[in-house]
Amino acid sequence: MTLSASSPVGIFDSGIGGLTVVKAIQALLPSERIIYFGDTARVPYGSKSQVTIRKYAQDDAGILMKHQPKMIIVACNTVSALALDVVEQVGKGIPVLGVLEAGAELAVQHSRNNRIGVIGTRATIESNAYSFAINALKPEIEVFSSACPLLVPLAEEGFIDHPAAGMIARDYLAELVGWGVDTLVLGCTHYPILKKMIGKITGPDIRIIDSAEAVAAKAKELLAENNLLNGSGAPVSPHLLVSDLPRKFRSLCRLFLGTDIPDVELVEV
Ligand code: DGL
Repeated sequence: MTLSASSPVGIFDSGIGGLTVVKAIQALLPSERIIYFGDTARVPYGSKSQVTIRKYAQDDAGILMKHQPKMIIVACNTVSALALDVVEQVGKGIPVLGVLEAGAELAVQHSRNNRIGVIGTRATIESNAYSFAINALKPEIEVFSSACPLLVPLAEEGFIDHPAAGMIARDYLAELVGWGVDTLVLGCTHYPILKKMIGKITGPDIRIIDSAEAVAAKAKELLAENNLLNGSGAPVSPHLLVSDLPRKFRSLCRLFLGTDIPDVELVEV
């Protein structure tokens, strides 16, 4: 397949979480066309088995490939941790970028006391993928991780600063804060939606790492290396696909992207 700079960048996640990556890509690479798939019929992924997550990853990448993207960004830490190779196989040679490596790298750059906290879905945390990625870069770092599964449905419901979300997040984060980490990785792309609230709980001394921003910088590098950067053209709205409830997705888009998205297309998985 010949890749062209004018082809779209494909991005997928289990639901709305990956919109945090869409937003970061739009800010850094405004001329890029984006095709986004949110698997809203099957969210959450993080409480499923590895076999199921790998099957979903195959389907998701297949849906994006129909639009002939020049790159796929896996805007889902769970898939990045457990099924990046599946996406690479389906992508048949196009560049594939996962959020996890980018988040791990940024965290290592920022930690001063070599104590990093990671929060993510149960599947991501149990895979130990963040610990491996962080320690591959700097073995002396101690990684403290905690699964926060309930934060995904809270984000999907748009509970950005609902008191119930605050109570749950405080409970999840209490132990991590007590371990003296100076850096906290939001190892799930749904969590940046709740970043303000998480920041209030962790306080000003803990640096919060948003893997969405980290992956946007990586995408720019990778596109430039492959001569695939689309340097010209007016910004266009992302083309959004979902596997269920397009109307609900559209209203959440307004909340998270801050703009109106004209259309959300329903596709079958
Ligand atoms: N947003 C995803 C992640 O980064 C998946 C959340 C889920 O579906 O459980 O892990």
